[in-house]
Amino acid sequence: FVHQLADPAVGTELLLRSPLQPALVPGQPAPVALYGPGRANSRGLDLAVPEQRAPLLAAVAGAAVPPVAEASAADVAAAMDRLQAGFDAWSTQPVTERAAIVARAGQLLEAQMARFCGLLAAEAGKTLGDAVAEVREAVDFCRYYAQQAAEKLQPIALPGPTGESNALRLHGRGVFVCISPWNFPLAIFAGQVVAALVTGNAVAAKPAEQTPGVAAAFTALLHEAGVPADALALLHGPGETVGAQLVAHPATAGVCFTGSTQVAKLIQRSLAAGDGAIVPLIAETGGLNAMVVDSSALPEQVVDAVVQSAFRSAGQRCSALRLLCLHERIAEPVIAMLQGALAELRLGAAGDVATDVGPVIDAEAHAHLSRAVTRLEASARLLGRTPMEARWAATHIAPVAFEIGAVEDLQQEVFGPVLHVVRWGGDVTALVARINRLGYGLTLGVQTRIDSRALQIAAQARVGNVYINRNMVGAVVGVQPFGGEGLSGTGPKAGGPHYLYRFCAEQTLTINT
Ligand code: NAD
Ligand code: ALA
Repeated sequence: FVHQLADPAVGTELLLRSPLQPALVPGQPAPVALYGPGRANSRGLDLAVPEQRAPLLAAVAGAAVPPVAEASAADVAAAMDRLQAGFDAWSTQPVTERAAIVARAGQLLEAQMARFCGLLAAEAGKTLGDAVAEVREAVDFCRYYAQQAAEKLQPIALPGPTGESNALRLHGRGVFVCISPWNFPLAIFAGQVVAALVTGNAVAAKPAEQTPGVAAAFTALLHEAGVPADALALLHGPGETVGAQLVAHPATAGVCFTGSTQVAKLIQRSLAAGDGAIVPLIAETGGLNAMVVDSSALPEQVVDAVVQSAFRSAGQRCSALRLLCLHERIAEPVIAMLQGALAELRLGAAGDVATDVGPVIDAEAHAHLSRAVTRLEASARLLGRTPMEARWAATHIAPVAFEIGAVEDLQQEVFGPVLHVVRWGGDVTALVARINRLGYGLTLGVQTRIDSRALQIAAQARVGNVYINRNMVGAVVGVQPFGGEGLSGTGPKAGGPHYLYRFCAEQTLTINT
């Protein structure tokens, strides 16, 4: 489980995770078939090769985060006026031109992979592997949405009586507000903004307070690629002020939000309270994600999947495993192996090639997670914990697993490397029903060697992404469309074929010929 990036096999696997090619031409299908062992894509960057790793490490060490300034209420008002004025010209450009601009931004980003990895490590505390994967994901969002827009936003001819022509046309809604979290400060920011832009909306983007520099650097790339100044505005500042003002602004025609369930509900209430148009909300939120392990599962495979799912990215993924449900007949061997794996993980500095688990995002998150761990120490059975050197104590949370009494004991997302374990017996459908009743619906892992059971669990589970006999993080754009239901979000799925439609309004055009 240690030093994934020093392992040539895993380094290659990271390479192969991006299915989309730089040569992708808007209007042509994505060459998804390139995904698979032995089919390295043309990006040709292998972290297992020291010469290829070196420029990334140099950039990580020397990353300078761009200066940013907080927006005042007057800045927000002026930006919304400018975007309203810019919307018409941007939305009436042919979709292929907007798609070409977005694809060009992806090219520019890929060419600056080292710089962006440096920014992600410096500002968000990413490990080198996570930073590389995130830049790739952002590049893939640019290519995928460019390709999808050019293909799917063309007018559709409809049947009609003689003497009449009918067509359905899609167009941007107006000014879309995009609000993003700190945990994927590049990929989620980029995915939201390019989807809203390519569909013909003007965009007011509000990144998380913790990670404004990455957003500023990517916004500059979008302008360099050809997005006009009056089609995109970046507004930094606290969610409670700048974010809330944007949501409540009368010019806001749509909101795309990724973050906590609690803030999604605040935004929903604010939109409902407005006097103007009915404004759609796309919300991707948190999860209480479970993995169901039955007695036929392979313990080694289970533990490998658990370590990746619960502790990679220091557990700061909405998709991360929070609740491991072990069948009572397999619980002891899995727990013994999990203890060994936890002992092997290495805490370390952001951007260090040898780091398995980096820092958590900031002091507030550290204090919050420390309190959650203290509560579990008092109420649950400690199963295992990664050793931590004193020098990391103020910035890192050591990966840890606790056995709790019941599924229902977990009611709140703990957004860090803290795993809750429960034992189960009897009927698996009763277990899945209890997981469903938690109300979240983002990811679910299943570990079993009985194929029919795996599919039965998937059919019963009310979640957006089910992963069978593998880890449950790292959805790939265009390959594993990502997003949940219930308390985990509204859909549509990011990186999926239906995503762009939600950013559009539809017009039926009937002509008496
Ligand atoms: P958060 O909800 O605190 O903040 C997210 C964004 O909302 C930030 O930009 C913040 O400034 C803004 N915001 C806060 N209050 C606001 C308000 N009143 N009005 C408008 N905007 C406001 O979330 P976070 O701590 O940045 O991110 C972690 C959370 O995000 C976790 O719950 C995680 O599960 C979730 N997440 C979900 C997904 C997904 O795809 N489902 C992906 C990543 C993160
Ligand atoms: N899309 C991210 C994942 O799948 C959050 O892990």
